[in-house]
Amino acid sequence: MRLPLIAGNWKMNTTVPEAIKLVAAMLTELNRIDGVEKVLCPPFVSLVPIKELLQGSSVKLGVQNMYFEDKGAFTGEISPVMLIDLCQYVILGHSERRQYFNETDALINQKVKGAFRFGIVPILCVGEHLEENEADMTKVVVTRQIKLALQGVNPSAQLVVAYEPVWAIGTGKAATAEQASTTISVIRSTIAGVWGKEIAQRVRILYGGSVTQGNIAEFVTDAEIDGALVGSASLKAEEFLSIVKQAALIKARV
Ligand code: PGA
Repeated sequence: MRLPLIAGNWKMNTTVPEAIKLVAAMLTELNRIDGVEKVLCPPFVSLVPIKELLQGSSVKLGVQNMYFEDKGAFTGEISPVMLIDLCQYVILGHSERRQYFNETDALINQKVKGAFRFGIVPILCVGEHLEENEADMTKVVVTRQIKLALQGVNPSAQLVVAYEPVWAIGTGKAATAEQASTTISVIRSTIAGVWGKEIAQRVRILYGGSVTQGNIAEFVTDAEIDGALVGSASLKAEEFLSIVKQAALIKARV
């Protein structure tokens, strides 16, 4: 049994006061929802105040990026050591980081190692571009991304993977649950090839890309899909709550 997980990726949105307000608007209700792990990934500057707001709550914190070195002359970067006491998760390899900040599979691999070295759990994002999807390359792309990201990484069932087709992110055009499920099976067997079947069965694999309160039910009804990485819909308190509630209700039956 894998514990379902819904994570909100706020991206570069919310000032500190806005972030506090957003958490305050959902916290009581989020705390009432069991059976699904709830993770918020705000911008770095809001991490400390939100951590304080979350004291004693079941809601966990993640960040959206991180460098892999412990410390040193890396102007502008944040290290895993700085994050140990602040968050449990780190989103790594998001397509926006690959696309706008030229993150390579080799760098992502270093970051995955850096996170595990300090007990921070990576939410490793993989996914194909539209042209790759149309050329029937999805399987090849995600297999390569997973293999390179996990190269030399000690097996860990803690890892979380998010399958996020690039063409579905922020476009309002989500994949179908069937498409997501098929690719997630490929990802799970790739992990099994690298880390063995037993660990691969315990790794949680989420879907991400235009998830809303209107389509979450479709995704979480599929036993292969362990939850979602939610972007824009996670910035609306009511909608994010609805997504988490539906996931909890449906996963209790799946
Ligand atoms: P979206 O973003 O839900 O706004 O499509 C998802 C993501 O980038 O993680």
